[in-house]
Amino acid sequence: MSAPHTRVILITGAGRGLGRALALHLAAPDTLLLLHHHQSRMGAQDVARQAQAQGARTLLLAADLADAAARTCLMQEAAAATPHLNVLINNVGVYEEVGLGEIEPAAWARVLEVTCNAVQHLIHAAWPLLAAGAPARVINLGDSAADRITARTTATHYHAAKLGVHLLTRSYAKLLGPQGITVNQVSPGFLEGSIGEPGSAVPLGRLGRHADILGAVDYLLSPQAAYVSGANLLVSGGWNL
Ligand SMILES: NC(=O)c1ccc[n+]([C@@H]2O[C@H](COP(=O)([O-])OP(=O)(O)OC[C@H]3O[C@@H](n4cnc5c(N)ncnc54)[C@H](OP(=O)(O)O)[C@@H]3O)[C@@H](O)[C@H]2O)c1
Repeated sequence: MSAPHTRVILITGAGRGLGRALALHLAAPDTLLLLHHHQSRMGAQDVARQAQAQGARTLLLAADLADAAARTCLMQEAAAATPHLNVLINNVGVYEEVGLGEIEPAAWARVLEVTCNAVQHLIHAAWPLLAAGAPARVINLGDSAADRITARTTATHYHAAKLGVHLLTRSYAKLLGPQGITVNQVSPGFLEGSIGEPGSAVPLGRLGRHADILGAVDYLLSPQAAYVSGANLLVSGGWNL
């Protein structure tokens, strides 16, 4: 069980990519990091070792977020480890570059399940822990293109899921605000090392870096953002506006 003064942070998809960068960035003494992973078990173990070297305590939580029962188990394990949660970062999202005409129903359902439905499920299941940890913060990873409806003939399932995440961000901000829980969204543009090509120029002249996203997360977790809820912070270098 975590001590009352421990800052408890749950990050999904912490074994690689942005989730890994977030975990290492937030690892500090008096912090308990709940590090979710699915296939990147060794990556998550490595993150845990490094986070511990930075003074944090860690707990690995494995779950296939496409599976509602596994999501329930994940939150039960979290609740067994801590009576409160200060920060929930819904980082997991699945991008598959497939044309709308080729998307199989099962692939559509899986991408929606992992990228959108899991966000709803985890916020809902974490609600009592977040209320116990208030003032608490939820940050969802969105996508800079998902603040409006634009026709998408590639990765349509991903874009539909991120539109759903945007709606969830605003809706949960309204629902959870009275309990001292803010809910915000950080929406990357095109990050270095990602699949595909940006397709159009980035006004600020370069692709996004993990450090750009970490800066936005720092702001949303800071005292300066105490009155910010339901916001969608685009961190895209002006791409795709
Ligand atoms: N990269 C970009 O350019 C970009 C742009 C806009 C938005 N974003 C958003 O930013 C977030 C992080 O992006 P990223 O580039 O770091 O992603 P990534 O490198 O593709 O990593 C995907 C993450 O999702 C997890 N995941 C995939 N399927 C899962 C499942 N069934 N159950 C549980 N976890 C699963 C993976 O965990 P395991 O490896 O453990 O399975 C991994 O941690 C995502 O929400 C993404 O949509 C990224």
